[in-house]
Amino acid sequence: MYSGRIPRFSPSFSPREALVTARTLVSKPDDATEVARFERTFADFIGAKHAIMTPSARYAFYLLLQAMGIGADDEVVIPGLTYFAIPSIAVTAGVRPVFADTGLTSHVLDPAAFEAAITPRTKAVVPTHLYGTPCDMDAILAIARKHGIRVIEDCAQSTGARYKGQRVGNLGDAAYYTFGLTKNITTLSGAMITTNDDAVAAFCREAMDTSAYGDLQKAVKEAATGLAMMVATHPYVYPWTLHPVIRAGNALGKDPIHAPFGEPEVLYPEIPSSFRKNRPRAVQAAVGMEQVARMEALNGARQRNGKWLDTHLAARQADLPGLSLPTYPDGAEPIYMSFVVHHPRRDALMSALRKRGVDTTTGYMNDCSDHELFPQFRRPCPNAATTKGEQIHLPVHPRMDERDLKHMADMLGEACREVGA
Ligand SMILES: Cc1ncc(COP(=O)(O)O)c(C=O)c1O
Repeated sequence: MYSGRIPRFSPSFSPREALVTARTLVSKPDDATEVARFERTFADFIGAKHAIMTPSARYAFYLLLQAMGIGADDEVVIPGLTYFAIPSIAVTAGVRPVFADTGLTSHVLDPAAFEAAITPRTKAVVPTHLYGTPCDMDAILAIARKHGIRVIEDCAQSTGARYKGQRVGNLGDAAYYTFGLTKNITTLSGAMITTNDDAVAAFCREAMDTSAYGDLQKAVKEAATGLAMMVATHPYVYPWTLHPVIRAGNALGKDPIHAPFGEPEVLYPEIPSSFRKNRPRAVQAAVGMEQVARMEALNGARQRNGKWLDTHLAARQADLPGLSLPTYPDGAEPIYMSFVVHHPRRDALMSALRKRGVDTTTGYMNDCSDHELFPQFRRPCPNAATTKGEQIHLPVHPRMDERDLKHMADMLGEACREVGA
C-alpha cells in the first residue's frame, strides 16, 4: 500500500558506492593515482582541460582567488543569496565581497545587479548556479569581458547542469564543485576545481600536491552516514522511522534534522590549517568514479521530476493560493538540486505539508547581503531577502516517482487552501 510519506531528500550514495568503499579500503590503491584518474574522468565529463580535486569548495574558491592574484582590497561580486562560507572565505583572504541581488524566482545572479555592483576594484564575479539552475551566462560573461573581470563559477549545486548545451563549470575562467553526502553526487566529502587556464591549474595543483592526506577514518564515517541516510529515507523504512520523528518535531514547532546537517555560520579568523591537511584519498576518488558513471541517470531522474512539477504546478496555479513557482534563465538546463517555491506564510505551509506526510526544508542558503557576519558589506538585495524568508524546498530527489509527485501536488493544494495566501 502507498504510504504517501515523502522525505525531503534521499542520498545518491547507494549499495554500489558502499561496495566500492569497502573494496577500496581493502585493496588500498595508490591515492595519487586514483585521484588523478577521477580528475581526468571529471574533466572529460565537464569538457574542461584541467580538474583538480580539493577537500572542499570553500578551499577551492580560496585557491582560485590566490591563483588569480586576487587579494587585499580587491572586490569580488557574489550573489546575496548564497552559502555563507563563500563570502566568509573571501573576507579571510582580504577580499571585499560585493553582494548583488538574485532573480526573485530564478534564485540566480541577476546580470543587471552584477553590472551595477562593478567598481574599478572589481576583479572577479561568482555566478552561483544555485539550486541546480544555471545563471544567465551569456549576459554575465558579456559584462565580465567588457570590464576585464574574471568569472569563477560556483557549481556546488549544479554538477552536470548545462547552459545552452554546454556543462556549467566550463563557461567562465574557472569553477568549483562540492560532493558532500547531500549533493547530487558524492565523494564522501570532497570537491573539485575545473579550468582551461594552465597557470590557474598549475597553482591549484601545486597547493594540493603539497597538502597532507586526510584521515581515512573521516571517509569511513561519511560512508557510514551515507548508508544510514540511504536506509532511513528508503520508502519501506522512512514512514516508520524518520517520518514520526519529523512529525513529532513539527508538533513542537521544530525541525529535528535541519541543524544536524547544517554547520555554524562563522567568519574564519584565518585560513584553517586543516584545509592543507585534507588531501582527498583513493576511496573518495573511487566513489566519485562510480558517481560520475551514474550522474546522467541521477540528474535525469531529478530533471524528469522537476519538469513534472514545473508543468503540473503551473497548470494548477489557481488551486495554489500564495505559492510562487521557480523560473529559469533562457538557455538554462537545470538539474533540479532543489525545487524552490515561495509562500508568504512559509512556516505554516511547511507544517501543513508535514502533517500530510510531505517533508520540506528551508535549505541552508542565507541572504549574506544582510548578515551579521558581514556588517561592513551590507548592500540591499531585496530578492535574496524575500527568498530567505519565503523559500520552501519541495522534494524532487531521484527516488521519487510520478505517484509521489502527484500525491505531493495534491497535498500542496490542500495545504495552500488550509493556510491561505
Ligand atoms: C552554493 C554553495 N557554494 C559553496 C558551498 C561550500 O561547499 P563546501 O562545503 O565544500 O566548502 C556550498 C555548500 O553546500 C554551496 O551550496
